[in-house]
Amino acid sequence: MSFYEYKDTIAEGDLVLAYVTRALIKPIYVKKGEIFNTRYGHFEHDKMIGMKYGEQMPGAKGYGFIHLLYPTPEWWTLSLPHRTQIVYTPDSSYIIQRLNVTPGSRIIEAGTGSASFTHSFARTATLSGKVFTYEFHEPRYLEAKKELAEHQLANTTITHRDVCNDGFNVEGEDIDGDVVFLDLPSPWDALPHLESVISSTRRVGICCFSPCIEQVDRTVKALEDLGWTQIEMVEVAARRWGTRKEMVRTVEDAVQRIRDIQSGRKNGIEVMKRGASEEPSEKFQKTSKGYKTPKKSTKVKEGDEDFQWVNVTKSEAEIKSHTSYLTFAYRIPKIESK
Ligand SMILES: C[S@@+](CC[C@H](N)C(=O)[O-])C[C@H]1O[C@@H](n2cnc3c(N)ncnc32)[C@H](O)[C@@H]1O
Repeated sequence: MSFYEYKDTIAEGDLVLAYVTRALIKPIYVKKGEIFNTRYGHFEHDKMIGMKYGEQMPGAKGYGFIHLLYPTPEWWTLSLPHRTQIVYTPDSSYIIQRLNVTPGSRIIEAGTGSASFTHSFARTATLSGKVFTYEFHEPRYLEAKKELAEHQLANTTITHRDVCNDGFNVEGEDIDGDVVFLDLPSPWDALPHLESVISSTRRVGICCFSPCIEQVDRTVKALEDLGWTQIEMVEVAARRWGTRKEMVRTVEDAVQRIRDIQSGRKNGIEVMKRGASEEPSEKFQKTSKGYKTPKKSTKVKEGDEDFQWVNVTKSEAEIKSHTSYLTFAYRIPKIESK
């Protein structure tokens, strides 16, 4: 298992992200004899060994299932143990593109926080690049250090440091950074310390990630004073779309359903309960137009072949991705005139 590349088959000791529901994805290390318990059933680690990543795994008692996902930075972000607010993929993917992070990039990141973004940076920079990440909160630093080692992110160096006071230099390292990402309450205090660790021969890009517009204001002023150029602030607003099947219904059926609901309300809950406990002989009836429509109180599974379905797409009602403003800037190397 590695965040840098992909493999097919699960082995003992591997990290698997158990997809239980959209809102519940659990990281587990596969260990013989252990059981992963959920309210949807329990799942034996022994049986995961030899299964393919991406496969659906049935519960041991014959009910419920999970999917066994390969740990990519994108899935890790949705399953990691939160120690802080984190950067999600709509922001991290945009930042990586705007800062031109590529294999070989030398990245400076502070603070590490839950190391969500550190994983994306490490994967994109590959082993030919390097991520220097800094965290001043000791328990968080220790957790992140342990996690980066467990995930064998060999191109990361984490330092326990207050970068606003003590800067970014790391003993024995020529940092020579060309990408900077600051997710700190006061990036303007850290900016002057970058001068000694960023590249003087390559273009350097920076992104400061701040939830308040007042922070953006101060950051822009500090960037201008220090000679950064092309300063621009953007907000990423992503909206997810999903597809599902909707049952084809006639107007007659829709009117009947409204009547059923109204009569249910009028006659009270008892009538509704009686209806629900009646065992329907067949789960559908035919409308005058020839469509099959489910009988009252019948539960129908999406896509049930007894009915007609149409594929529909729906978007989330709200845009949930905004967590911060992204302030970008660049430093262009000075060309010496002869
Ligand atoms: C919001 S979190 C970063 C989350 C991270 N980007 C992620 O995706 O997981 C901010 C972190 O910066 C750390 N921090 C704040 N000021 C710092 C400083 N002066 N030096 C180093 N770390 C600092 C905090 O302790 C916190 O863990």
